[in-house]
Amino acid sequence: MHPGALLDLLKRRTGFTEAHARLLAELGRVMTPIAPEVALAFYDYLGRDPELSEILHAVPGRVERLYGTFARWYGDLFSGVYDGAYAERRRRIGLVHARLGIGPRAMIPAMGIVQELSLEHLRTALRGPEVFSAVEAFEKIIAIEIGLIEESYLEALSLGLSLGYRDLKEALSQGAAALLS
Ligand code: HEM
Repeated sequence: MHPGALLDLLKRRTGFTEAHARLLAELGRVMTPIAPEVALAFYDYLGRDPELSEILHAVPGRVERLYGTFARWYGDLFSGVYDGAYAERRRRIGLVHARLGIGPRAMIPAMGIVQELSLEHLRTALRGPEVFSAVEAFEKIIAIEIGLIEESYLEALSLGLSLGYRDLKEALSQGAAALLS
């Protein structure tokens, strides 16, 4: 499915409306400034997992570069613009991870950590009842993020299998490499 069409489907299924998009853009005021802090805590969490830490440190300077890329991704969550170009950027992020063999068993818990860190900040930054609508909008965009990334994994895996790779991890990674090239 085309990323833009998939995004429309995910918006419909999560009940994500223009009002949620506007609210996320407003939340950007309190959330975007903490992006570097979330990035630090996020890579600290990944670094404590031996398998994921090995991937992070396999290339010199990789983690340092990731602090910046992750912070930009985080800021983008609160851009207020969720269109076809956004969906294509998320598909690409999924494929980059799939090519590295970083599958759902790493990605889904990592998204859980992003949620935990963000909800903690939302609770302290917004003390009134507005926290409820903020959490609702944030949870919806995270569900959409996961949907877009997971569908890109399926796309990579099915291409890898059709290219003749029988080992699932290899099929995922080779399929993603072919889609990215
Ligand atoms: C919430 C989950 C995650 C988000 C939002 C995220 C975000 C990103 C982004 C935006 C990029 C750059 C993609 C590009 O080049 O276009 C990236 C690359 C990468 N991520 Fe993640 N990531 C996540 C989970 C993980 C996990 C669990 C690992 C495990 C080690 C990981 C390791 C990497 C690596 C190794 C790269 C490639 C870095 C390079 O260019 O050398 N990520 N990630």
